[in-house]
Amino acid sequence: MTKIYSGGRAKSAPLLGRDTEPTIFEISSPGRSSYQLRTTGVPETPLASFIPAEHLATEVVPLAEVSERDLVGHFTRLSHRQFSVDLGAYPLGSCTMKYNPKFCDAVAADPRLNSVHPAAPAPLIQGWLELLVTLEETLCEITGMSAATLQPAAGAAGELTGLLLMRAYHEANGDARRRVLIPDSAHGTNPASVTLGGYEVTTIPSDERGLVDLAALKAALGPDVAGIMLTNPNTVGLFEEEITEIAAAVHEVGGLLYYDGANLNAILGVVRPGDMGFDIVHMNLHKTFATPHGGGGPGAGPVAVSSRLVEFLPGPKATRGDDGTFSWSTPAHSIGRVHGWHGNAMVLARALAYIEVHGGDGLTRVAQHAVLNANWLRKRLEATLPAAYDRPCMHECVLTSSELKAAYGVRALDVAKSLLEEGFHAPTVYFPLIVDEALMFEPTETESLQTLEALAEALETIAQRAADTPELVQGAPWSTPVTRVDEARAARTLIPTEDAATRL
Ligand SMILES: Cc1ncc(COP(=O)(O)O)c(C=O)c1O
Repeated sequence: MTKIYSGGRAKSAPLLGRDTEPTIFEISSPGRSSYQLRTTGVPETPLASFIPAEHLATEVVPLAEVSERDLVGHFTRLSHRQFSVDLGAYPLGSCTMKYNPKFCDAVAADPRLNSVHPAAPAPLIQGWLELLVTLEETLCEITGMSAATLQPAAGAAGELTGLLLMRAYHEANGDARRRVLIPDSAHGTNPASVTLGGYEVTTIPSDERGLVDLAALKAALGPDVAGIMLTNPNTVGLFEEEITEIAAAVHEVGGLLYYDGANLNAILGVVRPGDMGFDIVHMNLHKTFATPHGGGGPGAGPVAVSSRLVEFLPGPKATRGDDGTFSWSTPAHSIGRVHGWHGNAMVLARALAYIEVHGGDGLTRVAQHAVLNANWLRKRLEATLPAAYDRPCMHECVLTSSELKAAYGVRALDVAKSLLEEGFHAPTVYFPLIVDEALMFEPTETESLQTLEALAEALETIAQRAADTPELVQGAPWSTPVTRVDEARAARTLIPTEDAATRL
């Protein structure tokens, strides 16, 4: 690989190849196929005898024609050009891209779990039902809630479910209400879910500490407020210290508190949303309890609720009977189904495996180490990339590269792209929106001190390079399989066909 800058490579940097890989259509050769069935001694059976004619395609679909060998080679080569959690540190803030222990995969791969059809009669799947009930009970213990649904397929699906529960609760009290409050640091899915749930968003500003502005919150409260949606630690990685006061103020006007549990990794076994006064909590099991995720899935976003919302939960849900057997049941005033089946079963199985192996004290250590790692990085980088808010953070730290921009015209995106070249995944950039040139790092508990040191050294190297040769940072990455792309153009003029290159 050509090295075109003088800066040092961080200790643990894996090398990414530069060779170009043709598309599967360029490898395609007419008539080539990935399977060959024996023809001798087998009676010829026309396809139409298995599939009704009206279900058969009438036109030839132009798919790539490749051998199995070429197919596997193509995708294996592509996979080597990707950055993954298994390859190295992936400090993508807000996403909790922790290393996923392999024993969780082993559990999910057990045919006793994964060969079961979700429509199987309850007496035949007592083990699965027990697993679901145990997970629900455990998540309730972790969050301090009364009951939960395991159906939502991701965090955002959990948010919508939570808002539908909020609506069902208010409507049952003859009190529809209109608005939901959201802090300006919130994750983008929060306002989107509020709108989908049929409510209007009222944005609450953050104060100079990066916390919810309590005076502004109180001023926005009124009898038409259905609730507030927030996460603690908040999306700037800071703990909302006035959470019990916030909860009391919202409850006083009859509103509910929704906890976006995507940040649960920070508080596992230390504090519980239920004890802070929350009524509804969604969890991102794929983040906190270790399922490989990204690119849209797979996920699980269970929603746990306080006692007054239990009767509205989605159904059917696995239930423990008084006689110790398990069955399906639907709560009295259920909002209905939010998933075709009972949730993303294998993500649920992985989560329970992770929780059981760690135990209570192990989960507490997860949170403690996640917070320790983020604070170590924040302190270590003080002089290079200062924190947006100068106070201890929780599991992630929001740094700013505004000084690099002012001095050398190097922006957060340039720093992030340069980091790819140093063997690390980039952090989240320009989020939260309220921080100028934001770089949000979430090292997670799974990275060692040596890795954190290498990450800090890489960022220091990039900052030095920004001062010496800013154009190298501004054009990075230079040595990855895909170099700097025009991301806005890719989104605006998407050409999802095999001949995209010729149509640009
Ligand atoms: C704070 C927060 N809330 C909600 C979500 C949405 O979760 P999901 O991506 O599983 O839909 C995320 C995901 O990144 C998040 O960070």
